[in-house]
Amino acid sequence: MNKTPDSHKLANLQELDVLLPREIRGQSHTIPRIVSAVRRGELGLTKPSRPRGSFLLLGPTGVGKTETVVVATNHVFGEGKLFRFDMSEFQNQEALGLLLGARLGEIGYLGAVRERAAEGSLLFDEAEKAHPRVLDILLQLLDAARLTVATGQTLDFSGFYVWLTSNIGSAELMSLQHSNEATLERHVLTRAQQALRPEIFARVNEKLVFHRLSYEHQLEIAEKFLSREIEFLAARGHRIELDKTALPFLVRKGFHPKLGARPMRDAVEKLVGDAVAECLLTGRPACGILAHDELHDRLCVF
Ligand SMILES: Nc1ncnc2c1ncn2[C@@H]1O[C@H](COP(=O)(O)OP(=O)(O)OP(=O)(O)O)[C@@H](O)[C@H]1O
Ligand SMILES: [Mg+2]
Repeated sequence: MNKTPDSHKLANLQELDVLLPREIRGQSHTIPRIVSAVRRGELGLTKPSRPRGSFLLLGPTGVGKTETVVVATNHVFGEGKLFRFDMSEFQNQEALGLLLGARLGEIGYLGAVRERAAEGSLLFDEAEKAHPRVLDILLQLLDAARLTVATGQTLDFSGFYVWLTSNIGSAELMSLQHSNEATLERHVLTRAQQALRPEIFARVNEKLVFHRLSYEHQLEIAEKFLSREIEFLAARGHRIELDKTALPFLVRKGFHPKLGARPMRDAVEKLVGDAVAECLLTGRPACGILAHDELHDRLCVF
């Protein structure tokens, strides 16, 4: 347990409430609770025989659940301390062997995690899809932060955060479009409680419902990726400024009602890259105003 964080870690913990909303847009209601739990976890203020913190992140696809875990974990621990498990791949009895080792002498994926790191984040996506025996493992993790692998060793996971994510109850959100966020949150939490085991639901410290992204937040996300792309190009000598027509076009191409903002990063990279390539291929410098070219329905540097 890291009870006396060094000054670098302290600075990272202090910055977390500024960094998270800069990276994750439209989910500001979740951020204070995540920041508070992580700060307490890192400062040794949580129970030593439990994970440093546990979270259930709910809500539709592509709205920032996994990205939140990635950003928070990398910021607090540095790269390489996030271990991800897609529970849709752990739906049968053999899954238990994969995680904890099937034969004497095997340590399983979770044993391998513990060999590589003493602290970090364990992320279990689509938690409700796990086989009941796998849910037992999650319960043990949440309860005592200890797991016994096939070698007979009992491993200590008290240096880890446990994050469960799920889209439970979010599909119906479309039909509840006109309800307010509080009603939607209640609906998703009730559905999650029914689908996950009540014991698991009760053991998780923070249950957070991520919201659908409003149009304003979709624009913000497009702008975030675009400004990074513009910076990247500037470092290569291409000076590009933004016209107000570019962002709505990028939202149209990079936001999908079913996938959320998932396509945005690639869409920005491709569409801006194509606009710059078009300049360079015709022997023009890629410097100017980036705007929507209505005729060809693409971005262009004018
Ligand atoms: N709120 C957001 N702020 C900034 N970027 C976002 C946000 N939501 C989604 N994105 C972008 O979309 C990508 C996919 O989002 P993410 O993986 O967090 O989705 P998710 O909520 O975990 O969805 P799923 O339930 O399908 O796993 C992110 O990597 C990021 O590029
Ligand atoms: Mg995810």
